[in-house]
Order: sequence, then C-alpha cells, then structure tokens
Amino acid sequence: MQTPAPIGIFDSGYGGLTVFREIRAKLPQYDYIYLGDNARAPYGPRDFDTIYHYTLECVRHLFDMGCQFVILACNTASAKALRTIQQQDLPTLAPDRRVLGVIRPTTEIVGKYTKTNHVGVLATRGTVVSRSYVIEIEKFFPAIKVFQQACPMWVPLVENNEHEGAGADYFVKKYLDELLAQSADIDTVVLGCTHYPLLEKKIRQYLPANVQLLSQGAIVANSLTDYLRRHPEIEAVCSKGGGVAYFTTESAEDFNLKAAIFLGHTVQSRHLAL
Ligand code: DGL
Repeated sequence: MQTPAPIGIFDSGYGGLTVFREIRAKLPQYDYIYLGDNARAPYGPRDFDTIYHYTLECVRHLFDMGCQFVILACNTASAKALRTIQQQDLPTLAPDRRVLGVIRPTTEIVGKYTKTNHVGVLATRGTVVSRSYVIEIEKFFPAIKVFQQACPMWVPLVENNEHEGAGADYFVKKYLDELLAQSADIDTVVLGCTHYPLLEKKIRQYLPANVQLLSQGAIVANSLTDYLRRHPEIEAVCSKGGGVAYFTTESAEDFNLKAAIFLGHTVQSRHLAL
C-alpha cells in the first residue's frame, strides 16, 4: 500500500486556484500541493505536443513529491494532455496513481441545465480547437448542440489584474456577442477555462438574463467528493492534515501576490525548478 500523500492540483498558472478554492472549501480535511507552471503559461495558444509534454513534466514533479492522485485543474491541459497521460503514460509510469481533469465533471451535468439543448462553451483557443467539450457532451447528451467561442484576451486580462477595469468590458462583450451570434437559442453557457470565474460579474452583465452561467469550481469539487466516495482505495492514499503547499515554476514572490487575486488571501509559495 502506498504512503498517503497530498492531492496534487496542477494548472498552467493561477487559474486552477478558482477550482482549488472550491475543492478545499468542500474537502478541507485533505492535504494539497498546488503546482502552477507560471514560467510557461499561458498554455491556451500552444500546440498539442507542447501542452502534453509540459503537463506530463509537471505531473511527474507532483508524483515525485509523493502525490498519488492529481487533478489537472486546467481545461487546456485536460483537453490536450489528460487522455494521453491516462492511456499512454500512467500504465508504465505509475499504474496505481490517478490523474483526472476538469472537463468531464462539467460535461456530465450540463444536460440538467439546458432546456433548449443549445449550450455555449467559452474557452481558450487550445480547448476550442481540441473540441473536447463537443466530444464529451455528445457522449452524455447526444441531443445537445455545442457552440464554442475562444476568448484569447480573457486570460491576459485576469493575469494582469485588469478583469474589473473598463478594458475588460470591451472584450467580454465582444466574445459573448460572437458566441450568441452562433445561436439565438443558447440558454446555458459553460465557463470552460479556470481563469474565467474572475470575469463572472462582467460576463453576467452582458449575457441575457435567461442564460445560465456554469462555473466549474463547485462542479469539480462535487465530482471529486463523489469520486473519492466511490474509490476508497484512492481516498485511502490521500493524506488528511488540512495543509497546503504552493509551488510555482516562476517567481515565488509574483505567485504570492497574484494568487491573492484568485484566492482572496495571500499565500507563501516555493519555486520549483523545471
Ligand atoms: N488554466 C487554463 C485553462 O483552464 C487557462 C490559462 C492558460 O491558457 O494557460 O484553460
């Protein structure tokens, strides 16, 4: 039996903190290691191979730190690297360890929300090009039509703390208009990027009142709770001390400052050399 260890939470940078915040609120008893690959973020515009290699390298670091269970709290990494890691790497690298992503939990429940069966997905270019949301939603709800919109300016707005400024209004409205122009019947919109919850107030402002907005944090936290209940062998290797260690591949000082935007409180992170 493996030694119990923290749950690993991986993101290209800060966005995964919006998911981690909800996971920790729901499951405070576990230990966590958060790793942000800030030195190589954003992942959104990068090609499949690059995202896969970066993500695998970071998952290996989390494994080296002892993690038996890792969540890719990044849609782009979940879209472009998760399947290959699960099917190709884990069987030889670490057959007893698990790596899960954030796309499936959202696609599993989206059918509960839409009445028109027209669902919008807002995401990075990488996630949109992968068509992961379209493919996954089709598996669970074949009647749903998915309309995707890439929002390449939204991550930089959040990363530069401009998500509440006037510049954000322009780009929020622009991408929502482009999404809604694809179908007048969209009644449910998924925030398919972990950065976007920080823009939620402005997104709401420019979305028609009848359109529901699905943010992933709580959905992933509920799904993880359910997963750990259904998999006692994985739950048993998650250590329970309520602690968190933050690691970044870039400057720890910068991470500490910016993480506060996402978490609402400061953190003490450490640098991880790649
Ligand atoms: N965290 C990424 C996601 O959820 C967005 C940031 C990036 O492009 O690296 O898609």
